[in-house]
Amino acid sequence: MTTLAVIGTQWGDEGKGKITDYLAEGADIIARYQGGNNAGHTIEVGDEVFKLHLLPSGILRKGKMAVIGNGVVIDFDVLKEEIAQVTSSGRTVDDLVISDRANVIVDYHKFLDGAEERARGDRGVGTTGRGIGPCYADKIARYGIRVGDLLDEEVLAERLDLVLPMKRRYLDVLGDHRAIDRDGLLTRLLAHGRELGGHVTDTSVYLYDAIQTGKKVLFEGAQGNMLDIDHGTFPFVTSSNTTAGGIANGLGIPPQSVGTVIGVLKAYTTRVGSGPFPTELEDETSEMLMRRGGEYGTTTGRPRRCGWLDLVVAMHAVRLSGITHFAVTKLDVLNGMDAIKVCTAYELDGRRITHFPASLKQVERMVPIYEELPGWSDWDEGGSFNIAQEGYDALPAKMRSYLDFITEHTGVPVGIVSIGKDRNETIDLMGEKW
Ligand code: IMP
Repeated sequence: MTTLAVIGTQWGDEGKGKITDYLAEGADIIARYQGGNNAGHTIEVGDEVFKLHLLPSGILRKGKMAVIGNGVVIDFDVLKEEIAQVTSSGRTVDDLVISDRANVIVDYHKFLDGAEERARGDRGVGTTGRGIGPCYADKIARYGIRVGDLLDEEVLAERLDLVLPMKRRYLDVLGDHRAIDRDGLLTRLLAHGRELGGHVTDTSVYLYDAIQTGKKVLFEGAQGNMLDIDHGTFPFVTSSNTTAGGIANGLGIPPQSVGTVIGVLKAYTTRVGSGPFPTELEDETSEMLMRRGGEYGTTTGRPRRCGWLDLVVAMHAVRLSGITHFAVTKLDVLNGMDAIKVCTAYELDGRRITHFPASLKQVERMVPIYEELPGWSDWDEGGSFNIAQEGYDALPAKMRSYLDFITEHTGVPVGIVSIGKDRNETIDLMGEKW
C-alpha cells in the first residue's frame, strides 16, 4: 500500500502538523479530505514561519502535489491569503489541485455561525466562527455552492438567487439584519473562480490514477476523532467526519486505498471550545500543562482546557479509524512530574465501562478511573541529549514505560515519539512506512 493517513485521536491539536510535516518528506502527494480553515498549524522552515489553515502542509515542499479534496469546505478569501503567504516566500503553488466538488464558504455562512452560536446561548458549541457548520449544513441540505459553480456565471447566479432569500430570512429570524449584496457577492465569487480556476479539477480521478501508478499519498486529517460529527461528543463537535472513514468520501477514493493509519496522540489531553471532557483538570497541573505545552488555539488563540491522557478516548479512535500506529506527541511536557495519571475506564452508575457513551447525560455522570504511573525527572532538557543519535533506548526508562502502558492497553504500537517542536526531536520506530 502506498498511502498513509495522519489522524487526530483526541479533540484536535494533538500535534498533527508536526507529524504530517515530518511524514510529508516521503510522500508525493498530500491530500486534505475534511474540515476547513477551522484547523490550523504553524510550520517553521528554517527561519521562515507559515501559518496555514487550509492549504495542505505539502505545499511548502518542492515537487509535491497538494490536494484539497471534495470533503473540505473552502473559504477562498483565506485560501488566497495563504497562497499569498506561500508565494511571497518565493515558492509557487503550481502543485495545488482543488476539487470541483468541494463546497465553498460564503459570507452568510460566517454570519450564520455567529448568529447560531448567539442563539444557543450558554449551550454554544464554541465554534471557531469560520462558517464551517453552516457550510456543511448547506451541503447536506443541497443548498451548497461548489467550487465548480464559481467557474460558470449562469450556474452561480442561479444558485445564489435560490439560496440568498432563504439565508436572508433565516438570518433575520436570528436577529442578524446586515445587508447581503447579491451582485457584489456574485462578482467576488466569480473573481475567485477566474483566479484559481486553473487549479480546479476532478481530484477523485487525479488521486485514483496516482494511487494506481504507485504514487505515495499522505492523507492529512484535521481536528480529531472526538470532534467527528457522527462519533464525537455530539453536538459539541465539528461538522465533518474526522475519522478515517472520512478519507474515502472526502477524497472520492475507494476505502481499500487507506493503508497505514497513524493516530496522533498527545501524551495528555486538551480540548478547545465547549463540551464534555472527562479527564479535564482545573488545578495547578492543568495550569502547568497549558503553560508548558503552549496550549492556545492556533486558529482562535483561545486557551485550551487540559487534563490527563484518556485511553478510553484513544480506544474510540482505534476502533473507529483502524489506527495502526500511534504518534505520541508532547511527552516532554510531562517531564519532571512525580506521578502521571492515565484514565483506562469510567465508572457510570456503579458500573465500569470502557467505551464512550453517546448520551451526554451519561457522560456527565461518569467518573474517570485512573491508573497512576511514576513520572520521570532524569531528562536532560535542552542539554546534551541527542535524540537522533541516541534514539529510543536513551529515553528515561519511566517515559518508555509510559509508552509501553499505552501499547499494552490499546494493542497499538507506538510508531513515532515526539519530544519537542523540532524535527530532530522525533524518534521514528516505524522504519519502512509505505
Ligand atoms: P467548528 O469546527 O468551527 O464548527 O467548531 C466546532 C468545535 O470544534 C469547536 O469546539 C471548536 O473549538 C472545535 N474545533 C474545530 N476545529 C478545531 C481544531 O482544529 N482543533 C481543535 N478544535 C477544533
